[in-house]
Amino acid sequence: MKIGCPTEIKPQEFRVGMTPDAAREAVAHGHDVLIQSGAGNGAGFTDADYSASGATMIGTAAEVFAQADMIVKVKEPQAGERKMLREGQLLFTYLHLAPDPEQTHDLLASGCTAIAYETVTDDRGGLPLLAPMSEVAGRLAPQVGAWTLQKANGGRGVLMGGVPGVAPAKVVVIGGGVVGTHAAKIAAGMGADVTVLDRSLPRLRYLDDVFGGTFKNQYSTAGATAELVAQADMVIGAVLIPGAAAPKLITRAQLSDMKPGAALVDVAIDQGGCFETSRATTHAEPIYEVDGIMHYCVANMPGAVARTSTQALGNATLPFLLNLADKGWKQACEDDPHLLNGLNVHAGQLTYYAVGKALGIDVISPNLALKS
Ligand SMILES: NC(=O)c1ccc[n+]([C@@H]2O[C@H](COP(=O)([O-])OP(=O)(O)OC[C@H]3O[C@@H](n4cnc5c(N)ncnc54)[C@H](O)[C@@H]3O)[C@@H](O)[C@H]2O)c1
Repeated sequence: MKIGCPTEIKPQEFRVGMTPDAAREAVAHGHDVLIQSGAGNGAGFTDADYSASGATMIGTAAEVFAQADMIVKVKEPQAGERKMLREGQLLFTYLHLAPDPEQTHDLLASGCTAIAYETVTDDRGGLPLLAPMSEVAGRLAPQVGAWTLQKANGGRGVLMGGVPGVAPAKVVVIGGGVVGTHAAKIAAGMGADVTVLDRSLPRLRYLDDVFGGTFKNQYSTAGATAELVAQADMVIGAVLIPGAAAPKLITRAQLSDMKPGAALVDVAIDQGGCFETSRATTHAEPIYEVDGIMHYCVANMPGAVARTSTQALGNATLPFLLNLADKGWKQACEDDPHLLNGLNVHAGQLTYYAVGKALGIDVISPNLALKS
């Protein structure tokens, strides 16, 4: 199969769909890998790295789209890229179609087959191609929170680990899923005094069993949250209610109970944010202040560490990518129902129920698409 990987063109996107290592594996499987020249620059991979892996460098995105049987990307195709997709071509990338009718209609019109990273599932009910980005954002949260806490950035001037004779920062993590667990691990590793709040008792039991000696955990109620937040130097928002906007767990009025210069890091901002005063920010201007409390609310946190994020995403996508290339999408999806869950669009028809419901478009079952 000819596998094409163009340069990402969405603003502020520095990741790339395939690493040189992924290219090497695909070439070893007998495939041709076509990488747009410069595609890896933002993540620190040079054209020479790709060439050494056996990939062919291609001058323009138009040529990559024209020659490839499968396009591998990170972000949803932008309007210009969608015009280059064609009937029978396979697209493997993040799509997030439900809030994006324009993209959905363009993909349907193109006749391509589109598999979305975010809806591929695993045996444990997880989302294996979303998890690496939650791991990255979770581990990054205490790092950016620590920076926000510095005096020059408007913060309280508290060091995460304290020093001998001075107490460490108090960090509260709301939501103990993938983001929250990784955030708590790193904050505790920096020496902070960390408490994780969650509503799921099985999750709290797991956190207690595995991390009981590293950080504390508590059942999440409005009362417990208010009490802990009032004492906190940093609060990390990491809740998720699947398919819903994030619940607002800290109100504006509560900010006045907090310590001046405390930091709120709202990782859940991509679902609307879990603090009432959160609004999405960018890496160029990541923080702002409300009522003396510093807010960090970057919606695409993994972009700050594009190299790590590209490698983490590449590790997760590679087995699926190789299956798609080796077997063709139909056989690969027939053999793996989790990959089939990723199928969103095929030959002008929508195959993902939740997207159809959100956009009022008819849907056919993915199994029917397999037989077409
Ligand atoms: N900003 C970014 O760049 C970025 C990157 C990755 C993920 N995210 C977002 O981070 C959020 C968390 O993702 P995740 O992968 O950790 O999800 P997850 O499903 O693994 O974990 C969410 C946790 O929140 C808990 N929860 C739900 N309601 C709660 C409440 N009221 N109080 C306390 N806990 C509650 C759930 O029990 C669950 O354990 C999502 O909104 C995700 O989209 C943002």
